[in-house]
Amino acid sequence: MTADTRATDPADHRYPPPAELAAHANVTQETLDTAAADPEAFWAEQAKRLTWGTEPTETLDWSNPPFAKWYADGTLNAAYNCADRHVENGLGDRVAIHFEGEPGDNRDITYAELTAEVCRAANGLASLGVKSGDRVAIYLPMIPEAVISMLACARLGAIHTVIFGGFSADALSTRINDCGVEVVITADGGYRRGSPSALKPAVDKALQSTPGVRQVVVVKRTGQDTEMAEGRDVWWDDVVATQPSEHTPEMFPAEHPLFVMYTSGSTGKPKGILHTTGGYLVGTTYTMWATYDLKPETDVYWCTADIGWITGHSYVTYGPLANAATQVLYEGTPDAPHKGRWWEVIDKYKVTILHTAPTAIRTFMKWGEEIPAKFDLSSLRMMGSVGEPINPEAYNWYHEHIGRGRCPIADTWWQTETGMHMIAPMPGIETAKPGSAMTPVPGVAVDVVDDEGHSLPNGESGLLVVTKPWPAMLRTLWGDDQRYIDTYWARFGDRYFAGDGAKKDEDGDIWLLGRVDDVMNVSGHRMSTAEIESSLVGHEAVAEAAVVGASDPTTGQAIVAFVILISGFEASDEMAAELRNHVGKDIGPIAKPRQVMIVDELPKTRSGKIMRRLLRDIAENRDIGDVTTLTDSTVMDSIAKGLKK
Ligand code: PRX
Repeated sequence: MTADTRATDPADHRYPPPAELAAHANVTQETLDTAAADPEAFWAEQAKRLTWGTEPTETLDWSNPPFAKWYADGTLNAAYNCADRHVENGLGDRVAIHFEGEPGDNRDITYAELTAEVCRAANGLASLGVKSGDRVAIYLPMIPEAVISMLACARLGAIHTVIFGGFSADALSTRINDCGVEVVITADGGYRRGSPSALKPAVDKALQSTPGVRQVVVVKRTGQDTEMAEGRDVWWDDVVATQPSEHTPEMFPAEHPLFVMYTSGSTGKPKGILHTTGGYLVGTTYTMWATYDLKPETDVYWCTADIGWITGHSYVTYGPLANAATQVLYEGTPDAPHKGRWWEVIDKYKVTILHTAPTAIRTFMKWGEEIPAKFDLSSLRMMGSVGEPINPEAYNWYHEHIGRGRCPIADTWWQTETGMHMIAPMPGIETAKPGSAMTPVPGVAVDVVDDEGHSLPNGESGLLVVTKPWPAMLRTLWGDDQRYIDTYWARFGDRYFAGDGAKKDEDGDIWLLGRVDDVMNVSGHRMSTAEIESSLVGHEAVAEAAVVGASDPTTGQAIVAFVILISGFEASDEMAAELRNHVGKDIGPIAKPRQVMIVDELPKTRSGKIMRRLLRDIAENRDIGDVTTLTDSTVMDSIAKGLKK
């Protein structure tokens, strides 16, 4: 039982490690000290968690920064490490995945079955001509075939790019073309909010403008009517199910590309983050074990993230499976068929480690604590949070009403680019503070610096940098080395610029303060202001658009758009609704602005840059403050007045 350290201010609560956990913790103070003394030696040691074709003798090659190589003379197969080797080690009967479909169908997949399925899928993809280095897009709901497809690609050395099922056809085709995808794996649909939701039509639409795609593999999930293009589309069951369940894995060099994951940057064009095999797998395997104090023999882990995001890659597919963990995979939404669905799942599978996002926790807070109170959550022993700063109120609520006061919370800071947790409290050692991600994980070194890159003392806010290379770091942006250098390394030389503001408190613990660029964080999803602006100006009625992220009690930030219409178009509620829907269709429902405000002018600096800070003030109903750099300071009055109409 955690000591009761309730203070009046929710941010002042303190949660020391439960004694039982601390007594058997995977990570001790000694681990932290050893790792800090010689990070490279530490990471060389962690590489032993994997089974290599050729053991690496090199650890880090940083001779050509910022292009890192890790374990470069080693060879391995990621799928073999996540499946076959556990069977060879006698764990074939252990459940890898408890799949829970939204309608209530379920399926347990053991490591032996997972290995067989991955082999079949790899044989199936190979029969379609997929080979090492080819790109395969995966656009699937949260069903086992999503994980199996990723591993089947990895087994063949093909590079997967998973695209979130909530993205639209346009977003899909942009990513497919940028990555040079030849084969797409999708499904007829998936279950969401109590009904089947089609996926294949978006693929059909996207493929009208993707000349490079030659084959589409379709998993049957919902049984919806699905058009199949002759010669291009094949059913998963026809290509995969009939294949042999044996396949010899090839060992690839550690720096062989594993996947590309697209994420929003500060310009409209999504960035293809490239991760490679050895370093990524060492980093995710280690942090999965360390941050959650994972005991693979007894734990049942559940990460609620979708496979379409980096969390789904590192902490649903690769991290847990490389550790031979047992995990829950849930297809649907938390409120279908009722608002206690997650708690029911925890009770059913006796989940011990739950990993989710602040936006979900805030939603549950709104629904009321009496909902989780109806379920037996006594199996839980450890919880995680990821994706955005967690406000102390939500943290304390999570601790009390879900963790029942017993479970430490790891607030994990990291990014698509970092591949693995970078800042998180080690649960057996640290006394956690609600709202702080605390300290770097073992083997990682970060700092908070000012604009010129000088390290700041405790108590001051500045920019977060990572000061040493780490194994799961991105290697480059797909096809764009220069943008990789410019975005992350140009500012502070050999230190990685994360794009986040941060503060070290009086104890040196780290508090994340949100993005310092034009990237918004909506429900833990990264969205670029520029991408949404370019969608809005793509509408025939819009002359100019400016988008800001305004703080929102549930989603963290919400998208608020200010638009100027082309003359002849009328400002109206219908027009605002149409523009919201336009963005939803263009990019995906998650990109729909919460509000579209139609204005006559936008505040600009003398050099013509839109002053987003002022728009954010309006969106958050704040006083507008200093407007001296505006070309015309009456603009703000007219916007504010215009909005009152
Ligand atoms: O701003 C930080 C925020 O999410 C960004 C990374 O987003 P993405 O690449 O989509 O990865 C999300 C899942 C790792 C970061 O730059 N962020 C992520 N985790 C936290 C966070 N902000 C505060 N606290 C966190 N724990």
